[in-house]
Amino acid sequence: MPKIKITPSILGADYGDLNHHLQKLEGFSDAFHVDVMDGNFVPNLSIGAMVVSCIKTTIPLDCHLMINNPANYIEDFVKAGAHSIWIHAEASKDLKKNMEAIRDFGVLSCVVINPETPVKKIKKVLPAADAVLVMSVHPGFGGQAFMPEVLPKIAEIRKEYPELDIAVDGGINDKTAPLAAAVGANIFVAGSYILKSSNPEDAANKLRDAVSAANNMLIK
Ligand code: DX5
Ligand code: ZN
Repeated sequence: MPKIKITPSILGADYGDLNHHLQKLEGFSDAFHVDVMDGNFVPNLSIGAMVVSCIKTTIPLDCHLMINNPANYIEDFVKAGAHSIWIHAEASKDLKKNMEAIRDFGVLSCVVINPETPVKKIKKVLPAADAVLVMSVHPGFGGQAFMPEVLPKIAEIRKEYPELDIAVDGGINDKTAPLAAAVGANIFVAGSYILKSSNPEDAANKLRDAVSAANNMLIK
């Protein structure tokens, strides 16, 4: 089973004082999850590569592109400092080609599926993917409720790929993360639960503990 990672989504960060805000999260984050929205693939706008390039941190940046035709922007995000690029199966005309293009830039190439998208849609790209993300909300907004109906998809992927990094994103907290851990997820993207907490470090630790407990039960 791959390593457990807690990756706070910085969608709800203070963008007027971003680097200062992120500094406070560095001590307990395995990566920062950067949500990029185009107001087209999803009904919300967030940030682009220009803002990502202003981030000064030693923590890896996982760029989750909720945008149509992501191929047009891969190079911009690589230049902006992305450690990994995550593209939606629903947003790419040629998913395999786009995943390869990301890899050719020397960054991790990861695929994302929406709650209603079946695993079979990414069958061809999974063997070469560096990670997969199963959305547990409809993408576009933070603060939505976790959708337990996506859990069988995580189990299905884990069964076939015991070593693959499997992430889950949307509505993650200390109650929902263990459900995803129990079926094989190992990367937990959490926005509101960590950033809106009065003590983000405690929240992240609580999440890590809850996930580890679920994992131990899995091993026994
Ligand atoms: C949703 C984004 C998520 C979001 C998670 O479209 O992809 O990363 O920020 O936020 P919470 O944890 O509040 O659901
Ligand atoms: Zn996200």
